[in-house]
Amino acid sequence: MEQTFIMIKPDGVQRGLVGEIISRFEKKGFSLKGLKLINVDRPFAEKHYADLSAKPFFNGLVEYIISGPVVAMVWEGKNVVVTGRKIIGATNPAESAPGTIRGDFAIDIGRNVIHGSDAVESARKEIALWFPEGIVTWQSSAHPGSTSS
Ligand code: GTP
Ligand code: MG
Repeated sequence: MEQTFIMIKPDGVQRGLVGEIISRFEKKGFSLKGLKLINVDRPFAEKHYADLSAKPFFNGLVEYIISGPVVAMVWEGKNVVVTGRKIIGATNPAESAPGTIRGDFAIDIGRNVIHGSDAVESARKEIALWFPEGIVTWQSSAHPGSTSS
């Protein structure tokens, strides 16, 4: 079953949005498979956002991610990568639709509350980076997720 990596960024934690965000993914029907509150250091944040290292905002982005604890999560379910990005909303909150997390809770692109993997392959890499200890194996009886049609 497809998995994605979701991170509540430091501003989301500071603003008390953790419960709200988890609730949105839960109510959609996705299954929580990994969850931890952690502080990451600069090399780790640089690794997570390595693809953006040439961008002018890279240093500010890394500073933002290491500014306080983040909530790292693995969510599982059918099409969870693409659907998770829809729940999150467009990168720039000025363009994210109301009803999305960024559309409802963010104003600045540099403080956009949440990260979600952008593809199945990047999800796989990010889960390996953030959860080297592995994740929890369990099967949701409410959302078995085994149907492919
Ligand atoms: P993530 O889920 O965090 O990876 O966001 P994304 O996939 O929607 O966007 P992308 O991976 O392109 O950028 C990563 C993060 O960098 C964004 O979420 C923003 O916080 C930040 N970012 C992207 N573009 C800009 C920009 O033009 N200016 C600033 N200040 N930050 C940006
Ligand atoms: Mg991204």
